[in-house]
Amino acid sequence: CRLFYLGLEPQTQRRLASTISAIKAQTGNKTARAAKEDKTFQAIQEERREQAERSVLISCPPRFSEKKFLDYLSKHGTINKHFFYSSYGAYAVVEFSSKESIASLKENTNIPAVEHEAAVPFKSRLLSLKWPGSQSNNQPVPNFQEQSPPSIGDITQLLSEKDSVDEQLQCLTGALQLTEENISLRFLVCSLLGDIAGAYFPECIIRPFGSTVNSFGKLGCDVDMILDLDGIYATSQKKGSGLSLEYQVKRGASERAVTQSILSVIGKCVDQFGPGCVGVQKILQARCPLVRFSHQPSGFQCDLTANNRVAMKSSELLFLYGQLDPRVRHLVFSVRCWARVHNITSSIPGAWITNFTLTVMVVFFLQQRNPPILPTLDQLKDLAGPSDKCVIEGNDCTIVSDLSKITLQKNTDTLEKLLQEFFEFYGNFPFNKASINIRKGKEQTKPETTALYIQNPFETTLNVSKNVNATQLERFVKLCQESAWLLQKREILNRSSSQSAESVLPWGFAALLLPSVTSGTGVKSRRKRKLEPASSRIKNLLDSLKIKGGETVAKKGST
Ligand code: CTP
Ligand code: MG
Repeated sequence: CRLFYLGLEPQTQRRLASTISAIKAQTGNKTARAAKEDKTFQAIQEERREQAERSVLISCPPRFSEKKFLDYLSKHGTINKHFFYSSYGAYAVVEFSSKESIASLKENTNIPAVEHEAAVPFKSRLLSLKWPGSQSNNQPVPNFQEQSPPSIGDITQLLSEKDSVDEQLQCLTGALQLTEENISLRFLVCSLLGDIAGAYFPECIIRPFGSTVNSFGKLGCDVDMILDLDGIYATSQKKGSGLSLEYQVKRGASERAVTQSILSVIGKCVDQFGPGCVGVQKILQARCPLVRFSHQPSGFQCDLTANNRVAMKSSELLFLYGQLDPRVRHLVFSVRCWARVHNITSSIPGAWITNFTLTVMVVFFLQQRNPPILPTLDQLKDLAGPSDKCVIEGNDCTIVSDLSKITLQKNTDTLEKLLQEFFEFYGNFPFNKASINIRKGKEQTKPETTALYIQNPFETTLNVSKNVNATQLERFVKLCQESAWLLQKREILNRSSSQSAESVLPWGFAALLLPSVTSGTGVKSRRKRKLEPASSRIKNLLDSLKIKGGETVAKKGST
């Protein structure tokens, strides 16, 4: 590490040191992750949801005594877990061992009196801690957990220090993946939102889906939520007891109209009464209507949907694929990172490839290996037991939930080989005539003329990548071809040729993240500038390897 730090600004050294310690801390997380491996997706989600219901989010002064804080809260009950983080201010997440502690804590809190304004008298589980003397500068600062991903510059340096491409990809996953704390915070935010929606629908549950739960989430990704009104996990329709509750239900013109009206009132409620919820937008005309807002205390961008059970099932499917072989997650994190750095994906919605599309493409690629690394969706369906049976709006979403029933074939390909082959596979894929189908694990004839056709795993008449236009697909294909070509170069793959007297230069996967590869392909210049010829970009890259590592990295921004 010392050799690696030489020649770097003190600020960069400090940032790197903090990234390295965050990654080390995450190695500890692996134990928790491994312990969950034998549980089903549903059991893991339920456990996290139940923990969130026993938790509170507390806004803290910048300096305070952790001991005094915990002593005070312990008066209301036993604390199971707690951690601190800083977002727009310092916050603590505290999980009690029983829900009664929350009631006791709330009893002792006051609705604040605000000068010249009036407060909405809603006692939420987002509390504020203030006590006399707590701002004193003599107080120690508690250890704040990092909730943002490291910058791409830090990642490049970290990876360049590794000894093999396989180590680089493993390290990348460790640096970017959601921490246990971040996942807890996500579940807590859903639970806090559930308290608000509960004003209309007391039995509702707000559940996270998408990258929060599918094991491919990167620190900083959005929180996709589903308002669950009728029990997503209810195994069967409740049998009548002979007594039925008669009431006059309101009706709407269609499922969609009902979803829109429910989201409209919940959106208004979140906007007017939701503590910390700002910038609420109702996007009710989208294919999947949603309410988008920022939850300021956590810093999360949230998308709340309703009546979206299929999306929860596809999150379970991706989670299952991610658990079957560690190479799946390493490859998905690498491809997503590579795509983001080169503006193949974007945080703005548009005609570009999304992370979900990329993940399905990696799954398909791994089904195509010889022997296959991942089973097809039809094989996962065939292994399902009676309790796994799941039909949503006429779509058969049945998949096996017990991972131990799945037998994998022996494939020992290294990550380096898989990465290289991924780029070759999609650099040469016949996108003009073939579609990607992970249910069959085979290319199929494209049913329509859209640029990229990836069959939705469960809603089989839908195309996951309908939004992608020909230009964006072409950019992806070209970049795959270049990256495949680069990975054949000795200068790129050989770490020792990237050593200088002062530091280690970007090599291997880190070299694929260098901006010189895609000069002229930034979001702003997408429409105006044509791609530079591949040969000149590759020459730039090889030249940049000769520049001092620190200088090259300093030019990069954060993802
Ligand atoms: N989804 C889908 N079809 C799409 C887009 C999204 O079924 N065309 C579902 C997937 O289950 C996806 C979820 O909606 O995981 C959330 O979508 P999105 O936020 O776009 O993707 P994430 O997987 O959450 O990835 P990211 O980290 O970019 O948020
Ligand atoms: Mg998402």
